[in-house]
Amino acid sequence: MVRINGLSKVFKMHILKGKTIEGFKDVTCSVKPGQALGIKGKSGKGKSSVLKCIYRTYMPSRGAIEYDSKSYGVIDLARANEHEIINIRKSEISFITQFLHIIPRVTAIDVVAEPLLGSGVGVDEARERAAGVLTELGIPKALFDAFPSTFSGGEKQRINIARSVIKAPRLLLMDEPTASLDKKSTMTVVELLKGLKAKGTTMIGAFHDMWVMEQISDSIYEMDGGL
Ligand SMILES: Nc1ncnc2c1ncn2[C@@H]1O[C@H](COP(=O)(O)OP(=O)(O)OP(=O)(O)O)[C@@H](O)[C@H]1O
Ligand SMILES: [Mg+2]
Repeated sequence: MVRINGLSKVFKMHILKGKTIEGFKDVTCSVKPGQALGIKGKSGKGKSSVLKCIYRTYMPSRGAIEYDSKSYGVIDLARANEHEIINIRKSEISFITQFLHIIPRVTAIDVVAEPLLGSGVGVDEARERAAGVLTELGIPKALFDAFPSTFSGGEKQRINIARSVIKAPRLLLMDEPTASLDKKSTMTVVELLKGLKAKGTTMIGAFHDMWVMEQISDSIYEMDGGL
């Protein structure tokens, strides 16, 4: 489903007169359809940067990310054009980032329902499905119509997870999805991810929590190059 080959990222720091910082070097790994790949490695080894390159928040410096896309067939995400990336993000790949990007004055339920509206689902059905995922993640009903800006760290993260999984993406990227959660919420998220995987979602995730990684992953890639 995804084959990463010789992927590297070097950051050019314009404010530091073009000085370069190595993000990560020569990453080669792959994941089969319906399986989950865990990425581990010490802080600063480049786990988040690899995920951001797959989602193309970052443009890789070298190497290839071959993704077997539904719309385009096998496509190299390191070279795909902006239009292709936007389309793929909209309909195939979702990213649970480390923190929720707050959208001002949008309620929790609408934050979660929004990706469905973009793909033609009606408002009522979208909100109903959003309520289902929020309930599954243990968010109290009283918070559905509140604004996530005032939520606790763990609540924000569960909203973030709900928003990323509501469409049951073809490929799910995750950056420390359970980092700010307690044991109970972590277990709920693990169950939700297992359920998604059983329905066919392929996953690539960076984890500090080895227990979570082992619960979800079929294979593990260790980042140990660089610094
Ligand atoms: N936008 C950026 N500009 C410059 N350097 C960056 C940028 N993003 C990441 N880096 C550098 O790339 C290296 C890898 O960072 P990254 O965040 O990918 O590590 P990580 O493995 O996810 O770490 P952690 O476990 O702490 O989350 C670090 O040295 C970091 O400073
Ligand atoms: Mg990181």
